[in-house]
Amino acid sequence: MSDYVSSTSFADLPLSDELRRGIEGRGYTTPTPVQAAVFGPILAGRDVICRSKTGTGKTAAFGIPILERIPGGTRKASALVLCNTRELALQVSQELTALAQHKNISVIAVYGGAPMGVQTQALRAGAEVIVGTPGRVYDHIRRGSLKLDDTRIAVLDEADEMLSAGFYEEVTRILDHLPPDRQTLLFSATVPPDIEQLATKYLRNPETILLSGDVFTVEHIKNVIYYVVDQYPKPRNLLYLLEREDPENAIVFCNTRTDTELIQNVLNRNGLDAEMLNGDLPQKERERVMGKVKRGELKFMVATDIAARGIDISDLSHVINYSLPEDPSVYLHRVGRTGRIGKKGTAISLVSGAELVTLTALERNYGIQFEERKLPTPDEAKSLWIERQMKELRDAMTAGAAFEAYLPLMQDLSAREDGKQLLAYALKYFFTHHRMEKAQARAAGEKLLQSHQVEQVHKEQKRARGGHDRERRKPRMERASETPGGAGSAGDGRSGQARSIGDRAEEPAVPAPADRVKLYVSQGSEQGWDKDALAAALAEAAAQPRESILAVDLKPRYAYVLVQPGSEAAYVAATGKLLRDRPLAVEIARPKKR
Ligand SMILES: Nc1ncnc2c1ncn2[C@@H]1O[C@H](COP(=O)(O)OP(=O)(O)OP(=O)(O)O)[C@@H](O)[C@H]1O
Ligand SMILES: [Mg+2]
Repeated sequence: MSDYVSSTSFADLPLSDELRRGIEGRGYTTPTPVQAAVFGPILAGRDVICRSKTGTGKTAAFGIPILERIPGGTRKASALVLCNTRELALQVSQELTALAQHKNISVIAVYGGAPMGVQTQALRAGAEVIVGTPGRVYDHIRRGSLKLDDTRIAVLDEADEMLSAGFYEEVTRILDHLPPDRQTLLFSATVPPDIEQLATKYLRNPETILLSGDVFTVEHIKNVIYYVVDQYPKPRNLLYLLEREDPENAIVFCNTRTDTELIQNVLNRNGLDAEMLNGDLPQKERERVMGKVKRGELKFMVATDIAARGIDISDLSHVINYSLPEDPSVYLHRVGRTGRIGKKGTAISLVSGAELVTLTALERNYGIQFEERKLPTPDEAKSLWIERQMKELRDAMTAGAAFEAYLPLMQDLSAREDGKQLLAYALKYFFTHHRMEKAQARAAGEKLLQSHQVEQVHKEQKRARGGHDRERRKPRMERASETPGGAGSAGDGRSGQARSIGDRAEEPAVPAPADRVKLYVSQGSEQGWDKDALAAALAEAAAQPRESILAVDLKPRYAYVLVQPGSEAAYVAATGKLLRDRPLAVEIARPKKR
């Protein structure tokens, strides 16, 4: 059985209409196997210990049945979910909020680093579900702002971590505050045997659900190692690795905070877009960086194990281990940040002497098969680097302004003694600014896409309203549409109004701004595209620079693409070219006319 698609459908599960709509709202059409497996036991009130691989939808697996079980509208803490990091608590609370959207259930995230006062106020107002990190949750219990007398369900997400030495005392202290007849649920991708032993103290006759038997590897994640070359410093090894692999985007995991800072700086100095995430950063900064990487606006997030467990980034192509973690199970969680819900991913690790122990443990205990690749030699790395810069320069030239006036200067420069230095300076200046412009264009594109999506929602809402009005006022509508300038039809103001509602519903809510052109493209995710790959292929097919594509709204069978004005003709002209062996169709998207 696949780890991602179960043979049960949501229709087979005894779901309330509220939850069904919440699930639909998340875009889930079929439950994943873990969601199908735990639904019954949780709904029946059983305690559960569940292991299911990374990225298989465990959050909704416990989320759906607990939201189903707890009564809405009480504003009393009926369920408590504990997570190991602030980022995960926030993410889980967002998923539960979305699933509970149509039920009168409020979800609050309570975690350290965020202002206490705001959380206290929210807790006073009350909520049915509390999601939090143990330290802050316990603070609120102590201060009396969080009352758990009515808590019927407790969840430990990343349960093995929550019951490990670092968290054990805090977590069990919280569990001791809960009613003894509560239901307790433990979820993780790794459930070591000793945890079951330990859990017997806190669980009552639990049902243990271990999916995928003893197979720990995620099928779609390729595991690759590079042995560190000692002739040059380790950060240079990483740079060479990145030259060879050229990842779309990645989390680069480091074992220490100092390393995250070092690597962030090394990558930035080498023109790569990187930001660090570690426990030293203020919470606001942590959320900013996490937001950027989740929105696909950051190429490299250099992180400690804060980001190792649970964090869901839907389109992360690579996980890179600058160093291997000491604990082999952490490796499984780290690499599980890619390859989610059946997508493909690559995990690459730099391995040196002491880490061979972890490597052997991973091979022996978890059956991971590593593909060994070789770092490029300094000369190879240099030529890879040069090729990439050349390509960037050429792409920019194709799209850029006329430059011929500078040719005489170029001739002069090449004859001068300091010509090379001056030219190198000009290049450095070009690349810095060009990358900045590209980053800004990407960010603007995301904003445009968001505004475009908001527009779509408004359009849908108007269409729905217009639809109602059309239904009720159909005869008038028909009359009005038969009369050009219908509002003038014998002073019948209502028919004029009805017509204008109906018409507006078929057109964009606001006129398309002149800073972008929206194109319809005949291929989508079902052809195996992700946003960046489709953008790159389209730009190539239309011989346009990649930056001319501002945003991609990928649907299963087609995509809407926002491009810079002026480039649309080239994209439309790419119609008929073969992309993934299928002829491409590109059209300027127009509002539908009936
Ligand atoms: N039934 C479903 N159909 C499609 N996508 C789903 C479904 N359920 C969950 N997802 C999506 O799958 C992704 C992974 O889900 P989730 O984060 O819950 O995985 P997980 O098993 O908890 O992973 P980890 O072990 O890393 O914490 C999320 O983006 C989620 O929105
Ligand atoms: Mg999870």
